[in-house]
Amino acid sequence: MDGVLIVSKRISLLFCLIFTPGSRCISLLSVGIPRHVAHGQSTVLECQFDLEGKKLYSVKWYKDGEEFYRFVPEETPKKQMLYVAGVNVEIESSAENQVKLLSLNLNSTGRYRCEVSTEGPPFETVSEHADMIVFVLPKGNPRITGGQARYQVGDRVQVNCTSGWSRPAAKLKWFINEHQANRAYLQRPVILESQTEGVQAVILGLEFTVKPKHFRKGNMKLKCLSTISSIYFRSNETTLERLDKVNTEQSQTESSTKLGGLGGRVAVAASLLFAHTLWAMAHCE
Ligand SMILES: *[C@@H]1O[C@H](CO)[C@@H](O)[C@H](O)[C@H]1NC(C)=O
Ligand SMILES: *[C@@H]1O[C@H](CO)[C@@H](O)[C@H](O)[C@H]1NC(C)=O
Ligand SMILES: *[C@@H]1O[C@H](CO)[C@@H](O)[C@H](O)[C@H]1NC(C)=O
Repeated sequence: MDGVLIVSKRISLLFCLIFTPGSRCISLLSVGIPRHVAHGQSTVLECQFDLEGKKLYSVKWYKDGEEFYRFVPEETPKKQMLYVAGVNVEIESSAENQVKLLSLNLNSTGRYRCEVSTEGPPFETVSEHADMIVFVLPKGNPRITGGQARYQVGDRVQVNCTSGWSRPAAKLKWFINEHQANRAYLQRPVILESQTEGVQAVILGLEFTVKPKHFRKGNMKLKCLSTISSIYFRSNETTLERLDKVNTEQSQTESSTKLGGLGGRVAVAASLLFAHTLWAMAHCE
């Protein structure tokens, strides 16, 4: 997915300089390990090196210190894999400079290291590592539950936002008319643990007493944003109506002589708006 870590020109010079003075040291040009990958996906880990004309003995890959793949040109078969939990190598797509991992799962999270050695003596070895984290992303958007369609000043709004199951847990934020909600309005997040897959869901409650400032043009838009690291951003929103809207509109309409007629028209407008809200709730992505 995103953030392929390129460790370029990281040279483990020390060993080489001490033990083989005068000759040029082998180096890793880049080690490509994705920082984040989604559960169920496959990925390719890359390891590019410069042997300075020396002969390759082996390329070995480790996860959390356990070897899972080696490429040794002088051995038959050249490509070998070793069992390590969470690491499912596709041998046909793996070679000297890359190893392909299939169906990543939560056990695939860990520190991956590429180690390159030349034939000796003197043997030279360089290695580099990076951490890869497997995410389980929520299916769909966060969900907003509770609350009413209409409020008046002084009412208590009590709504919840629930993220889909994920790992790590999502971070939730509430916005009122595009402004992040006052911290005092937020409940303590509740974290639900799934028994089966090590995934979590989060519920963040929003509770406050409605003030006139919470309405914009007679509506209050509540939005919940769910994020995971920098790879998942989804939101959901709901628009609530001001209950005493009719009065507000009347006070703004100076030529309001026929109150009955005007009230009727506003009520129709309000119910259309409500229908629109329902439509938006049903269709928003
Ligand atoms: C992850 O590893 C644990 C312990 O080794 C094992 O019980 C579990 O089944 C593994 N999960 C997957 C998805 O491979
Ligand atoms: C939020 O999104 C889901 C789809 O992911 C949808 O079913 C739901 O109606 C939306 N609206 C609210 C207010 O939760
Ligand atoms: C919000 O979720 C909490 C925790 O599950 C629950 O106790 C509360 O009743 C919910 N409130 C609403 C308005 O749904």
